[in-house]
Amino acid sequence: MKRGKQEELKHVIYASKPTFFSDTILKKILRSSRKNNVAWGVSGNLICRSDLFFQILEGPPEAINNLYEKILTDNRHLEIQKLRDKITGRRLFASWAMKFDPYKSWMWTKDEVKGGALKRLCSDDALAVFEKLARESDQFLGSEEKL
Ligand SMILES: Cc1cc2nc3c(=O)[nH]c(=O)nc-3n(C[C@H](O)[C@H](O)[C@H](O)COP(=O)(O)O)c2cc1C
Repeated sequence: MKRGKQEELKHVIYASKPTFFSDTILKKILRSSRKNNVAWGVSGNLICRSDLFFQILEGPPEAINNLYEKILTDNRHLEIQKLRDKITGRRLFASWAMKFDPYKSWMWTKDEVKGGALKRLCSDDALAVFEKLARESDQFLGSEEKL
């Protein structure tokens, strides 16, 4: 990545609802994410389950803004709600063009997701979810199968 002003970083976190959920769709999203994100200096994590996408995008502000605009127009999800949009000093998922995290038991019940609990998360709580996953992934780096 280039030095100087280019090193300024921002992150965006949003939640959305998959329009239709399948392994094929997920694989396609992850493939284009990993291809594009490497080129744009973007890293992040995508939590996926049949009723939820929850994603952090981190990288140069312009790249993040452009990518988020693209993601907003993607018809593979709806009810997109931005939870956080901030300049940050560091990446949580520096080693990942886009880490893929399936549902974990400590996360949320179907009823919580259905009731919109996630979309009411405050900005700091949304970040705390990814900070926890980043700490866990540091412990197990390299053990996860990549698509
Ligand atoms: C939940 C979700 C997350 C996505 N995340 C990314 C991403 O991190 N990077 C990316 O390039 N595209 C992502 N996409 C796909 C974009 O909306 C868009 O389809 C893609 O960037 C098009 O690039 P391509 O033509 O190179 O495949 C995501 C889509 C969805 C539905």
